[in-house]
Amino acid sequence: KKVIYFQEIDSTNEYAKRIALDEEEGTIIVADTQKSGYGRKFRMWASPRGGLWMSVILKPKTTPDHIVKIVFLGAIAVVETLERFGIDARIKWPNDVLVNEKKICGILAEGSFSEKEVYYIVLGVGLNVNNPIPEELLSTSTSISNVLGVQIPIEEIFRTITERLEYWYKEFLRGNDEKILQKWREKALLNRGVKVIREEGEIRGKALDIDDLGALILELEDGRKEKILYGDVSLR
Ligand code: BTN
Repeated sequence: KKVIYFQEIDSTNEYAKRIALDEEEGTIIVADTQKSGYGRKFRMWASPRGGLWMSVILKPKTTPDHIVKIVFLGAIAVVETLERFGIDARIKWPNDVLVNEKKICGILAEGSFSEKEVYYIVLGVGLNVNNPIPEELLSTSTSISNVLGVQIPIEEIFRTITERLEYWYKEFLRGNDEKILQKWREKALLNRGVKVIREEGEIRGKALDIDDLGALILELEDGRKEKILYGDVSLR
């Protein structure tokens, strides 16, 4: 496995996208700090020293409709890593990892693909480890050191995440989708109210389950069910 390390970079996802076509699958970019880290909807992602900011280049021979499962692999790997360090974490569809209802990790998959083929996917993971959480975010965000009250060497976290990610990516390549979806369900926050914000407007409902491709099945207030695809929503 190749790891490219930077003390400082604009964004590990941006860097990974720049080299992805020429780089072999599995290469990891990791940085101590990012100057312009970003999350979904290009929201800025604060990335000071002490956090884990990494991106993995993947080139699965598959179609783009399977990409959401790759996001799931990231979330599962992070939850399992946190478990190893004694932290009980849950996944909020599609890509957040929460501890005590507070966000500890965000995952951002970006890719290049046609209708039939995926050229590459960059799986970005931003995990709050020993980095300070800004005052104004303390009610909604947390870190490993906040939860445990001690600092964990970031290399140990990095090693565990990459090991779990590799395990789950192999399952994905073997076509063991059901195993991935089952693990995801086991660790997810389901059966609770969510607010989905789409371009057409906002809808409320209860997150019931996911389907075979990872779309969220939402029960609306009038009892109707609707599928929400990854990509066109933000959840509150
Ligand atoms: C989100 O919750 O919106 C996703 C946040 C993803 C942040 C990570 S940090 C490493 C990688 N590089 C980036 O610029 N973003 C991702």
